[in-house]
Amino acid sequence: MYKINQNYLKLPGSYLFSTIGKKVNAYSAANPDKNIIRLGIGDVTQPLAPAIIEALHSAVDEMAHVETFHGYAPDLGYAFLRNAIVKGDYESRGCDIQADEIFVSDGAKCDCSNIQELFSLDNVVAVCDPVYPVYVDSNVMAGRTGTYDASTGMWSDVVYMPCTEENGFTPALPKKTPDLIYLCYPNNPTGMAITKAELQKWVDYANEKGALILYDAAYEAYISEEDVPHTIYECDGARTCAIEFRSFSKNAGFTGVRLGYTVVPKDLVRDGGSLHDMWARRHGTKYNGAPYIVQKAGEAVYSEEGRAQLKEQVAYYMNNARTIREGLREAGYTVYGGVNAPYVWLKVPAGMTSWEFFDYLLERAGVVGTPGSGFGPSGEGYFRLTGFGSHENTEKAIERIKKL
Ligand code: MLT
Repeated sequence: MYKINQNYLKLPGSYLFSTIGKKVNAYSAANPDKNIIRLGIGDVTQPLAPAIIEALHSAVDEMAHVETFHGYAPDLGYAFLRNAIVKGDYESRGCDIQADEIFVSDGAKCDCSNIQELFSLDNVVAVCDPVYPVYVDSNVMAGRTGTYDASTGMWSDVVYMPCTEENGFTPALPKKTPDLIYLCYPNNPTGMAITKAELQKWVDYANEKGALILYDAAYEAYISEEDVPHTIYECDGARTCAIEFRSFSKNAGFTGVRLGYTVVPKDLVRDGGSLHDMWARRHGTKYNGAPYIVQKAGEAVYSEEGRAQLKEQVAYYMNNARTIREGLREAGYTVYGGVNAPYVWLKVPAGMTSWEFFDYLLERAGVVGTPGSGFGPSGEGYFRLTGFGSHENTEKAIERIKKL
């Protein structure tokens, strides 16, 4: 008789963005005349940049000829892409990362959730609170988080590091020493950033305690301030304590194309096991690689034209974030984020929960956002709006909110 992984049954509800999708679809079906503006999930809305489209077309043409056809991709990804990544994302920032430490994949979400397979079940996991739900959910599925307390929204074995107005949404170093520390900067959901000096403290802490930082830098392209690091490897000593996840979804609009990569430095060795070799082994067994066509599109992200076009796209979304930030302030809301990330984190009006505010905004303004409590207990009382919509819709949404 087969047995199921009981850990899945511990997960309350559905995945946050599926829950929102279901709620919005039900509302839309019941109110077919309502024009709904979706600023909930951080999905891009602008078409792929011309340089990327051109690379995709040309790679498709290559697939049509026996001389240039490509089958399975190499385990770690094509060298042309890994070299472009090293040059564009690391050498240019003075970071010592080699091409064979880059693992190309179909996106950061999968890597962020799969990486925990490399670690024993008794590792203690620490997460920021609020947090992108994938880090916790994947550890729940693995059986690393203990029991769920519905009254607090917390797992007994997870170390929560509150990110609040009081600490500027940068958590304090935890008192109970964790083994695996998930950090995401610029941050999803708060849209706030970390300075290099602050991040250096985390790197020093991890090295001192023998902990590992799992660093999600998916929103790196949105950094606008000088003292904010683009990669954790800008910090001294990060090669011995950090894995970094990067995505092409947010900087290049690949949410529907799928491409990301993970950096696993060769210096990460514990108990005779090299994390680099273990991840390579996993990639070989469990992963077929991102398609050649997509990796060629990824290469175009680093071309001169690609860079210029994507800079404009990032500026477009950040202009939306500014519209949201300033519009909400004018409407009397307290807002955070939106300066180094396309997310704006607003305080919901007193007396409302974040899910109540979700319903209020949907029903009264036809605007979809994400309730802060969906990202963790410290997210209660907050609400996320994304700058990833079209500018027209963003302006319309703010006008509607101002009229409430
Ligand atoms: C978000 O809305 O938080 C992100 O779009 C989710 C994701 O990137 O998977």
